[in-house]
Amino acid sequence: MPAVTATAPGKSILFGEHAVVYGRPAIAVPVSQVKAEVVVAPPASPRGGKIHLSAPQIALSADLEDLPADDPLAAAVAGTLRELSVPAPPPMDIRISSTIPIAGGLGSGAAVSVALIRALSAYLEVPLADEAVSAIAFEVEKIHHGTPSGIDNTVITYRKPVFYIRGQPIEAVRLKSGFTLIIGDTGIASPTSLAVGDVRAGWSRDPAFFEARFDEIGRLTREALRQMEAGRVERLGPLMDQNHSLLQEIGVSSPELDRLCLAARVAGSWGAKLSGAGRGGNMIAITPAGGAQAVASALENAGAARVLITRVGAAQEAPRDP
Ligand code: PMV
Repeated sequence: MPAVTATAPGKSILFGEHAVVYGRPAIAVPVSQVKAEVVVAPPASPRGGKIHLSAPQIALSADLEDLPADDPLAAAVAGTLRELSVPAPPPMDIRISSTIPIAGGLGSGAAVSVALIRALSAYLEVPLADEAVSAIAFEVEKIHHGTPSGIDNTVITYRKPVFYIRGQPIEAVRLKSGFTLIIGDTGIASPTSLAVGDVRAGWSRDPAFFEARFDEIGRLTREALRQMEAGRVERLGPLMDQNHSLLQEIGVSSPELDRLCLAARVAGSWGAKLSGAGRGGNMIAITPAGGAQAVASALENAGAARVLITRVGAAQEAPRDP
């Protein structure tokens, strides 16, 4: 069998993180400047019929049978082989790499899963529908963080902007015009499970306080969808600012995220918010197209470890670098 390669993009949540775990809508877009890549190839040396996984970035080199069942990579392989009905898979080398920062709110875990599932299915020449790819990746997300909403595996599998409500069919966002998004990385790794767990603990103590904020986040997210579909992208800025304030209130921002959001606003963006689980990881800012560089420099000066400028395209608009 010839070697095959599959990739999957990162993602950014524009509106609705955390509230989406509690049934409210969220909007997310793929981020193609960063990606996970998986190569599946015949074994370079005979390994006695084994499946070998290597991921140099996390210093992993192991046979599948030696990994615990709850290892996310092992679970992705096992879930795919089950779905493909391949009880006796051939020996193979699976090589995993990624330019998506780990635990940074850009969906690195889901992207690795999706690329791995797609590479395996291509290598074994058994096609898998997107729905199945996303479902396997969702099972792996549960290992990463217990009660995932499913938004990461969905947007990364389908590679288009989505309006997502847990348990409901996916709705593509009919963007009327594209916009420029600046992503600023605090450089602080923040495991999603911790932030999600703290929100859960707060919600258990004071459900009324949290439910009211989730309702408001849901309202902002629906309003953002309306503005995107009407092409009024500058109106997303104030909605992002409000969403950020609500995320501060439920305790998932941090001084670093607040500082970067403020720097982006001062440098001319329409609005800014943390994106993903919070505490560390990334923030996003939406800017007029000509203003992206100024905002990117301001974020670097305010301490961002890394800045990405990405273009979120309308359906008829090919994605391009700003
Ligand atoms: O930090 P990320 O990229 O895994 O995003 C988490 C988003 C949450 O809403 C906080 C959790 C979820 O499962 O949707």
